[in-house]
Amino acid sequence: MTQIKVAELFAGVGGFRIGLENTKENMFDIVWANQWEPSKKVQHAFDCYVSHFSSGTHSNEDIAEVTDREMEETEVDMIVGGFPCQDYSVARSLNGELGIQGKKGVLFWQIVRFIQNTMPKYLLLENVDRLLKSPSKQRGRDFGVMLSTLNELGYDIEWRVINAADYGNAQRRRRVFIFGYKRDLTYGQNISRYSLEDIIYYQGLFAKAFPVENEPNKKRVSETNISKDIVDVSEQFSFQFHNSGIMRNGEVLTIDTIPKYEKSITLGEILEENVTDYSIPEEKIEKFQYLRGPKKILRTSKTGHEYYFSEGGMSETDALDLPARTMLTSEGSVNRSTHFLKVNDAYRTLTPIEAERLNGFPDNWTNTMPDRMRFFCMGNALVVPLITRIGNQIEQIEKENEDTFSQLKLF
Ligand SMILES: C[S@@+](CC[C@H](N)C(=O)[O-])C[C@H]1O[C@@H](n2cnc3c(N)ncnc32)[C@H](O)[C@@H]1O
Repeated sequence: MTQIKVAELFAGVGGFRIGLENTKENMFDIVWANQWEPSKKVQHAFDCYVSHFSSGTHSNEDIAEVTDREMEETEVDMIVGGFPCQDYSVARSLNGELGIQGKKGVLFWQIVRFIQNTMPKYLLLENVDRLLKSPSKQRGRDFGVMLSTLNELGYDIEWRVINAADYGNAQRRRRVFIFGYKRDLTYGQNISRYSLEDIIYYQGLFAKAFPVENEPNKKRVSETNISKDIVDVSEQFSFQFHNSGIMRNGEVLTIDTIPKYEKSITLGEILEENVTDYSIPEEKIEKFQYLRGPKKILRTSKTGHEYYFSEGGMSETDALDLPARTMLTSEGSVNRSTHFLKVNDAYRTLTPIEAERLNGFPDNWTNTMPDRMRFFCMGNALVVPLITRIGNQIEQIEKENEDTFSQLKLF
């Protein structure tokens, strides 16, 4: 049976891997994983990863320190990874013709280096949805630089912003997923029969994994061409990318699509029973209530200018009959964004197991580390069932590729 060899970058506690190892056809083999928490002596996420997965190489160093040779030797068919939204602008190198230079420490350029060293069939990347709009002074530039770079490397790209709760999950967590495939290989050739619009609505990977209505939201449809000159894109490009899109050979179509909503799980449904350890002491209850309440506070800026900071109120506690709000890495602290529950008339926070359930991880996945880190890692992680759905579609693509290949052999 076909095996898809995978490198998992920025692996965290292994959300991509759990999702891919749960697919129908069992095709994915994660042969190389890298996870390194900058400037931390104890590597909680890496240790957790290693405690669950034995096969493949586990690398615990800064991805920038991994050599080209080590990357090349992985011989993978697919690269997956969730990476930060940073400044992707580039400049021409000082020695001009020799190429371009991105800012140091920007992890996207490490993904590019991995691609250059392995030229895999597929890419599956995840980021915050803000990536499509960044930076605010030149909207869409960073995603434009990304598309231009991947286009140059020979990849066509589909993307979709997915709110996990819209497709049956327990958390409102909105992330952009980016699927790339080499345009000169079988899938690239097969899908090129369809119009860009058909790919977004019906034929593309995301359309099949996460169906959408066949009309745009508020007629939001835009087209553009991405220049092959990455520096030019970095300096000039500004464009409004919508939540769904495709780039083929530099030609971009983007549409604001509407999900075919599936019934979500509610926060109440994933709660553990008889929880006593996570109750909140009186003084912290008041702090939570204050943080969630409406405010208008007189503040003074650094230059001595006085202004009012104001924010609206939130519901007194988190609704148990709705999917949960997005979990952040600060979930383990007393914070406005931290979940604040009232269960059976008692106030409490989420338990680490509930945090794992909100992301679709198995219970106790992160029990190798202190609670605060468990919440931190879940704030960083992704909603696992989404990856399984995407993985199932990639397996379908591979099976169709095999059929095309065996038909060709018959002639
Ligand atoms: C958004 S999280 C990915 C979480 C992961 N998808 C999961 O399910 O747990 C990004 C990860 O990249 C790691 N990271 C940050 N800088 C890194 C670097 N320079 N090299 C390797 N890993 C890095 C962080 O420690 C973090 O775990």
